[in-house]
Amino acid sequence: MSGDAAHLSPAARAIAELPPLERLPHLREQWWINHPRAQAALDKLEAALTFGPGRIRPPNLLIVGPTNNGKTMVAEKFRRLHPPEASHLGDHEIIPVLVMQMPTEPSVRRFYASALDALNAPISRNNSTDRLERQTLELLRIVETRMVIIDELHNLLSGPHSRRAEFLNMLRFLGNELRIPIVGLGTKHAQIAVRSDDQLENRFEPVPLPMWEDNLEFARLLSSFERALPLREQSALAASGELRSLILRRSGGLIGEVCAMLTSAAALALMQGHEHIDRMILDRCDYRGPEERRAIFEASFPHVR
Ligand SMILES: Nc1ncnc2c1ncn2[C@@H]1O[C@H](COP(=O)(O)OP(=O)(O)O)[C@@H](O)[C@H]1O
Ligand SMILES: [Mg+2]
Repeated sequence: MSGDAAHLSPAARAIAELPPLERLPHLREQWWINHPRAQAALDKLEAALTFGPGRIRPPNLLIVGPTNNGKTMVAEKFRRLHPPEASHLGDHEIIPVLVMQMPTEPSVRRFYASALDALNAPISRNNSTDRLERQTLELLRIVETRMVIIDELHNLLSGPHSRRAEFLNMLRFLGNELRIPIVGLGTKHAQIAVRSDDQLENRFEPVPLPMWEDNLEFARLLSSFERALPLREQSALAASGELRSLILRRSGGLIGEVCAMLTSAAALALMQGHEHIDRMILDRCDYRGPEERRAIFEASFPHVR
């Protein structure tokens, strides 16, 4: 192998042994980078899961960050750390951490339907909201859920004020009734929505996953991506101030965009027989950042505002 591949993780090193084109499908695999902000969020979740259940006022968390910045990835990682298992007698499932989707509007009924869906429970569309609520609470107790994580909580803002208030009431009820921590994931709009309920605001501790800036943390993130992309030579993305700020600018400071850009660059490198990413590859790869996509859109539809 050309290059000593010491910059790669063991898994990436094994893939880097393959011929270039056989490495391409591996670029689509999802891997987890344990950056400090994600670890801080996982630590908060862990503490809430350990000390929260059973308390009269269990702690609630709100993981806040822009779209495409790793909120769902944190929740999925946490779920994998606390996976479902069979009950002691083997007759039902234990689901310590339930991850569910907030419906596209703050409807209590649709919320319970979504919870039941996450619990793999059959839902009868004819059931009353009360019945869905009873069914959800009962099931959450049976499967011994100790934390409910609600993704896309900012959808709260899409309904009229009265619906939002009713929904926030229901969240408060759920936490009180089950005595387990409720965790929301959402953009800053979720935080604004939660703030509109005085009693809830101080019960949802914000845990930020902010946009990335040009600092040591970002340099480390780039090194972590380099460790995971199966290229035989080092690209030194983190060490080059020019590349670092180029990647930060084009990605808009979002980890999902950084991932898409570097994956696309690695694919072009492999297709052209290169073993590292440089400025030319970054410029030519098939990636358009959020700003670039917006500019292309506006150029194609100049009259749309
Ligand atoms: N910790 C991480 N390690 C590796 N890739 C990540 C990580 N967090 C986010 N990503 C990348 O960013 C993308 C968007 O993350 P996601 O969790 O869906 O964002 P959000 O829920 O904030 O919109 C993921 O598909 C993944 O490619
Ligand atoms: Mg998400």
